[in-house]
Amino acid sequence: MGDTLSRVPLILDVDTGIDDSLALLYLMASPEAEILAITCTAGNVPAHQVAINNLAWLELCGYDDVEVALGAEVPIIQPLMTTEETHGPQGIGHAELPAPTRALSARHATEVWIDAVRRRPGEVIGLVTGPLTNLALAIKLEPELPRLLGRLVVMGGSFNHAGNTTPTTEWNIAVDPDSAKIVFDAFSGLPEERMPIVCALDVTERIEMKPEHIAELAVAAESEPAEIIAPEDPPEQRSQASNRVIRHLSDAVRFYMEFHLAQDQGFLAHMHDPFAAAIALDPSLGVMRPAVVDVELAGTLTRGQTVADWRGMWGRPANAAIVVDTDPAEFFRRVVDRVGAFARRVG
Ligand code: BDR
Ligand code: CA
Repeated sequence: MGDTLSRVPLILDVDTGIDDSLALLYLMASPEAEILAITCTAGNVPAHQVAINNLAWLELCGYDDVEVALGAEVPIIQPLMTTEETHGPQGIGHAELPAPTRALSARHATEVWIDAVRRRPGEVIGLVTGPLTNLALAIKLEPELPRLLGRLVVMGGSFNHAGNTTPTTEWNIAVDPDSAKIVFDAFSGLPEERMPIVCALDVTERIEMKPEHIAELAVAAESEPAEIIAPEDPPEQRSQASNRVIRHLSDAVRFYMEFHLAQDQGFLAHMHDPFAAAIALDPSLGVMRPAVVDVELAGTLTRGQTVADWRGMWGRPANAAIVVDTDPAEFFRRVVDRVGAFARRVG
């Protein structure tokens, strides 16, 4: 890393998760990312399993000094739902990572968030790729958090696009809509360059990882043999990759592709969270449009729907910069370059 590289201090709040896993790998692989801490929330799988997954990926990659803190184990009002059918029994698809040996932080996720933004006011980038429960709780404890944070990047919501959980809701918001509303309300009134960046399904469902991306990653990592995953493989097929990162990532992503295929979306995987991670490091990867974002809480069919007022009809100031376009090919070039080289180094 060159001396002139300016680093991006980050808090990751995740519900790891197959795509959260690749987001974490992307950040570990990016020299400009300074991972301050990882906070865990219940979502794809229960929070404790999320924490184990984070510790396991970190340990596999030799990252022994990043704090991992447990956060909310349930949403603030409604019961928890998890989605093992999407992410596998442990949240990492078919991958079987070595059990982590390191302990969780003694601190709660909310304390980690608040302490980080107070120590470095205006600097820290918060990246949330799970339900917004921890952040909402932290804001309740420190109402100045939105102004102390440098910028927030959220994977969540769907606007002019169908939902992936109900016809109108996206998973991260659907798990805890009450927290999402607290967060979007609290971030109102910030200047445009500090408004939360929202990566919703409208754009993240264009981030289609295909088997050839896994093959390219394996080549970049100098892993052998060639990593070829195909829909006609027998169900018990697992990666034989010599490189451990590639082997586990391939087994995780295979499950995600099988899930997407079963949903009639093709043998591919929507990489929502890694895209949000790439945006957190380099917002210029996306085209953004300001809007007022609010969350439907009362709808009998639409609870958890994110609604964007693009035209100022509500007469309220914009509280979000919604990513409306990107170049998926450029995103995957970055993934292959960075994660491939990182996997080669880690082994
Ligand atoms: C989001 O939901 C989760 O299943 C994924 O990890 C991602 O954060 C996509 O809707
Ligand atoms: Ca996630």
